[in-house]
Amino acid sequence: MKKDFILILDFGSQYTHLIARKIREIGVNATIYPYHTSILYIQSIMPNGIILSGGPFSVYEKNPPLISRSIFQLNIPILGICYGMQLLVFLFGGKILPSKHKEYGKTKFFINNEVNNNLLFHEIPKQSIVWMSHYDEIKQITNNLKIIGYTTSSSISACCNLDQHIYALQFHPEVTHTEFGQVMIKNFVFKICKCIPQLKYNNFFKQFIQKTINQIKTTTKKKNVLLGLSGGIDSYVTAYLLHKSIGSHLYCIFVDTGLLIESETKQIILSCKKINLYIKIIDAKQRFVSILNGVIDPEEKRKLIGQEFINIFQAEAKKIKNIGFIAQGTIYSDMIESSIDPQLTKNMNHVMIKSHHNVGGIPKDVNIKLLEPLKMLFKDEVKQIGEELGISKEILYKHPFPGPGFSIRIIGKVNKKKIDILKKAETILIHELKKANLYQHVDQAFIILLPIKSVGVMGDKRTYEYTAVLRAINTKDFMTSTFAYLPYEFLENISNRIVNEVEGINRIVYDITSKPPSTIEWE
Ligand code: XMP
Repeated sequence: MKKDFILILDFGSQYTHLIARKIREIGVNATIYPYHTSILYIQSIMPNGIILSGGPFSVYEKNPPLISRSIFQLNIPILGICYGMQLLVFLFGGKILPSKHKEYGKTKFFINNEVNNNLLFHEIPKQSIVWMSHYDEIKQITNNLKIIGYTTSSSISACCNLDQHIYALQFHPEVTHTEFGQVMIKNFVFKICKCIPQLKYNNFFKQFIQKTINQIKTTTKKKNVLLGLSGGIDSYVTAYLLHKSIGSHLYCIFVDTGLLIESETKQIILSCKKINLYIKIIDAKQRFVSILNGVIDPEEKRKLIGQEFINIFQAEAKKIKNIGFIAQGTIYSDMIESSIDPQLTKNMNHVMIKSHHNVGGIPKDVNIKLLEPLKMLFKDEVKQIGEELGISKEILYKHPFPGPGFSIRIIGKVNKKKIDILKKAETILIHELKKANLYQHVDQAFIILLPIKSVGVMGDKRTYEYTAVLRAINTKDFMTSTFAYLPYEFLENISNRIVNEVEGINRIVYDITSKPPSTIEWE
């Protein structure tokens, strides 16, 4: 049987794995290879189509990542996305320059209906919302390319060569916020590359669970496993899978960093009891406050915290006889933003956005291996696996909470006083969201404490206190997000309650930025 599949050449985009996932969702296999894969090799594996991913480069800089023009002679349809588009245009002889009007996030896109037979935009309305993330612009294309789409700030946002089945998009069809992105991917895969669906995505989760349970059993070979539970869905689903697979060989610990609200600790003990899981609580509050003392740089904070988690895990592991593994609930976005992708090529240039606390790895000289069964999944996939496992909605739909906790939500220096301020403010926010029935309508909401003080007036007295930021977002996979459209009355109520009840804050602002260009957390 012919193996229909799409080859993705990776130029270091944050979204490369997302493109593969979107293709698998419609029943077709997608394989990711580094951009410098040889044309001969590509010819030998004969994909139905090739996608050139985005990447953090500019074609006009010194030694940009390129592909050979002989890719056009393979007679295989090609879709270039973002940097992939600029690269295609460049190879055709077009001109790319830094843009005066950079486009990030939500953008209105218009299809140029004058080009007939453009299968990529089949059944897509003339105007729609797309998601952009670029600072270079295509200034000029050659005659053998046709413009098929534009935006208000860029006259060339999509182009194609119909004869050669080559298409290029400046925006990202793979992210959920691009309104008709999945339709464009479907059109490319089925109408242009003529793939025949072979996978059933719905079965993927059932198969994943069974395969993972078996794999854990064979990998661990009756050795004991230590799992760091954080209270979030990723580590809970990991615990559930490990528990099903190796039962009493699993040892769970919860490191109380003091950088989260106390009710979290109680909740985690309760949820472990539900599945008869013993959990040891490690009180590390003092350790974390002292390592953060005087640290301002966000990356330094993240690295110190990641290292401290590893130190604690290692010390605890030593207390367990026959220990072979430390398990973590790492997911794909943790790795790609930290610039670690085990599936992709080792010399690929993924740019580091922020080091997630759980991707520091274990020192090589330690005779313990790392077990991360969810590391190729996105957050919403983990949720679906959780549902398949029968985990309660209360746990599955809890807002995510990052391992470094309040330390990355206190901008600048962290101290006990600021942690206490944030704890109080965050408790009010979560309480009010639930009371107003809004908790489940936002995917993550939290407070950030700025190192900025401003003047206020309370009870006729002058105040000079901190400014706090309310961040509430909507997202599916946490790779892109929009700010949540919370009702004004709710915002007003939150502001009143926090400023009236939390000593140390006298001003609240609402963060209305999307990701990109921002990230969800501030540090
Ligand atoms: P960003 O800020 O990268 O956040 O847009 C995406 C999602 O990841 C969470 N996040 C983390 N989770 N350890 C975690 O367990 C981390 O170091 C970390 N940093 C960010 C963030 O809360 C959001 O849900």
